[in-house]
Amino acid sequence: MNTLNHQKNYKRFKNVIDEDYDGALLYPGANLYYLTGLDPKSVLERPFLLIMYSHKESVLIAPKMYEKDVSDTFIKEVCLWKDTENPYEILRSFLHDMKNEHERILIEDKMPAFIYTKLQDHLKEYDLELLNDQTAHFRIKKSKKEIDLMQKAAEIADETFYRILQEDLKGMTEKEVVSLIDYYIIDLGGEKTAFQTIVASGPNGANPHHYPSERELEEGDLVIIDYGAVYKGYCSDISRTIAIGDVSPKKKEVYDLVRKALKTASDAVEVGIELKEIDIAARDVIKRGGYGENFIHRVGHGLGLAAHEEPYLTSTTTKKIKNRMTFTIEPGIYLKDEFGVRIEDDIMVDKKGKSLTKADRDLKII
Ligand code: CO
Repeated sequence: MNTLNHQKNYKRFKNVIDEDYDGALLYPGANLYYLTGLDPKSVLERPFLLIMYSHKESVLIAPKMYEKDVSDTFIKEVCLWKDTENPYEILRSFLHDMKNEHERILIEDKMPAFIYTKLQDHLKEYDLELLNDQTAHFRIKKSKKEIDLMQKAAEIADETFYRILQEDLKGMTEKEVVSLIDYYIIDLGGEKTAFQTIVASGPNGANPHHYPSERELEEGDLVIIDYGAVYKGYCSDISRTIAIGDVSPKKKEVYDLVRKALKTASDAVEVGIELKEIDIAARDVIKRGGYGENFIHRVGHGLGLAAHEEPYLTSTTTKKIKNRMTFTIEPGIYLKDEFGVRIEDDIMVDKKGKSLTKADRDLKII
């Protein structure tokens, strides 16, 4: 069985529904997993939906071929439909059981529009509110068990970095490095990568979300690698910038500045202060170094079941830092047509910030 207390999360969420809503509609993804432990893969066009009512037992409507995935759920009422049946007819019959007292329903943000439009006729009399606003509030503070899983995901990311450093990277294409990183993540016990792995070499490093290309890594390049592992549902997200052979003094100077920004921002983490202080701490270092215009994104984002989730750390986020929040700190400097540097750690708050990712932050020359 699962190590996480999904049932406790479910009960907390059920209380939210009972107080203010007529129901909630959940679709596979981080929220459904968090609340129930259900994690069916690749449901594609087949509707898989959990209807939570304010006044009666929830109903899970799932494709018959996912029978195994739902076999040990604590949801008591499970309705399995076959490919020869019309699942929307079944859904309709259950939607009629909504109470319509509050005229409000919570709906999964990531529900596909093709399912949503089929439900819409039956939800006309309700205000639909995004469920994520409620669950984000729950998910923002991690339990001890969640942090253990995130620590493990971070260790896989660290170890992947050390394995990559053993490789003869010069002459490899970005795509080849991506496939090595992805291979190591799985080999080291990760379920999958947390997002599309980024390898951005030379001038490609100036694009923060560069998509891997056929460019070969050359002598004198700085190369940003940004990737994450998923371990039992929980994500890590790390960036390191490595040098291929000797790099110019300017590249070293920019690297040192980003590293200093990361350290300053990580050291600034403290319960009770506003999240924007972390972004400002990193931004100030980079501004003073003369590259303020080249730090073109927020300093970080929350991390957990999703690779990007609440809280987001911008220079205007007034939300306060709380114990057991988990987020990235990832300052970067991007110089068009030249190169980029980004260094990123995953931080867990325990009065101060503690880094879950620990891979060496010294500039590595390969
Ligand atoms: Co990140």
